[in-house]
Amino acid sequence: MNFELKTLSLAAAAKSPSDVLIVLISDHFQATKDPLSSLIEKAVKAKDFSSKTGKVLQTYAALGISAPNVTFLGVGAAKAIDLKSAMAGLTAGLKAAETKKLTVVSAEPLSAQALQALMLALAEGTYIYGTTKSKPVTRFLSQVSLGLPKVNLDLQNAFKAAVGMIQGIEFAKEWANRPANHSTPTMLAKAAMALARSGPMSCEILGPKEVAKLGMGSFMAVAKGSAEPLRFIVLKYQGGAKSEAPTVLVGKGITFDTGGISIKPASEMDEMKFDMGGAASVLGVFKSLSTIKPKINVVGLIPTCENMPDGLAVKPGDVVTSMSGQTIEILNTDAEGRLILCDALTYAERFKPRAVIDIATLTGACVIALGAIRSGMFATEDQLAQGLLNAGDEAMDLCWRMPLDDEYADALKSNFADVANVGGRAGGAITAAKFLHRFTKKYPWAHLDIAGTAWKGGSSKGATGRPVGLLLHYLLSQQSSKSNSSAKRTGH
Ligand code: BES
Ligand code: MN
Ligand code: ZN
Repeated sequence: MNFELKTLSLAAAAKSPSDVLIVLISDHFQATKDPLSSLIEKAVKAKDFSSKTGKVLQTYAALGISAPNVTFLGVGAAKAIDLKSAMAGLTAGLKAAETKKLTVVSAEPLSAQALQALMLALAEGTYIYGTTKSKPVTRFLSQVSLGLPKVNLDLQNAFKAAVGMIQGIEFAKEWANRPANHSTPTMLAKAAMALARSGPMSCEILGPKEVAKLGMGSFMAVAKGSAEPLRFIVLKYQGGAKSEAPTVLVGKGITFDTGGISIKPASEMDEMKFDMGGAASVLGVFKSLSTIKPKINVVGLIPTCENMPDGLAVKPGDVVTSMSGQTIEILNTDAEGRLILCDALTYAERFKPRAVIDIATLTGACVIALGAIRSGMFATEDQLAQGLLNAGDEAMDLCWRMPLDDEYADALKSNFADVANVGGRAGGAITAAKFLHRFTKKYPWAHLDIAGTAWKGGSSKGATGRPVGLLLHYLLSQQSSKSNSSAKRTGH
């Protein structure tokens, strides 16, 4: 899907040659002398249309307008949330009509955030997964022209960022949606390699031998039950100075989670192909970085394997030694995410990071706590927490801070190892975070539990691409806060 942003008046929009023309009408709408304005005025007078968010009026073959289909769309106060919900209401129709060429014009200026929300909603609603269908499935919508009365630098930057963000979100969706037999650890590693070739980044893949040499006994224990060999993916994006500490993203890459010997019930087990949603979001962020090219340094770490029951699989009660040297009693083999993440978190130390953020479909308990609206967020520092909360708000990819009180770690005591991999049912999302916390003492750390937000179940089953938007906004804000502080230092 190709987006373009241009200056467009309603008079000019009336002449634009597209299949569908959507005219955004906010509460501040003021008619000018052109065919679209006259139609809107007429409809408002007749009470057939208003600027209320989500109001729709459609006309066909209207006099003086090139596009055969014209849709007036109310966007209320034209806040980001208005654009998102109004646009989301139209995408099913665009999909059904197989619209190829779309123009969206706004008579009033839009904020940068509203423009992004509009673009993201359009992309979200017209996305189709097709990789494992027998006939090629392609998205009909191929050209989207966005017209505003005035296009300044701010809007242009927001536009470029949104285009990059959409590419990343859709890359994350693609890999998360693929069935486990079409997205094995080996395939994920190949995708990361191919991605690194396409932009200013590098990629290194470690296999079982290298991982054993590093002493990642916890990660290896999870992979033991599977015929698919594990992979440890290291992606590096260098947009800033070499001396600048990177942000490290760590994504849980369980390509299928059966639960292992502590096997899961059969119902909805297929959805455990999405258990690499954290890994997919890291790949998505790197995809976006390759087009947005911000001046920052980012490292992506993805431990990836399957969690399977087998004669060789790790057993409840087994004790393993993690890369950090801490021993772990694996009381439940279904709490495998933390077991692969803890070794990656230790590996992250070598980058002397400014912050490490792990992203994981970690606990069913987080789904119970927060549902599908907000991801769970844990952070060791207030500034990091606030940065992530703000980024989530801006990207409309929300999270909610959860506690890390040390008392929660009491549940993880073991008689046979330094720590157990599960606590009880109480506060399950928090005890999981406390387990990870033990491995993150050398840097500021945040953990995003995306078990409720990475995919949808039911008839709209599919990956959401979350939290690529949140992470990108967070990373890009690093760049702008950096330039702000250097501006302050130089007195500009
Ligand atoms: N991948 C699951 C978490 C999950 C479950 C995400 C359901 C989304 C929906 C994770 O590996 C897991 O199995 N966690 C267990 C932990 C428990 C054994 C302490 C869980 O949440 O039940
Ligand atoms: Mn599990
Ligand atoms: Zn899992």
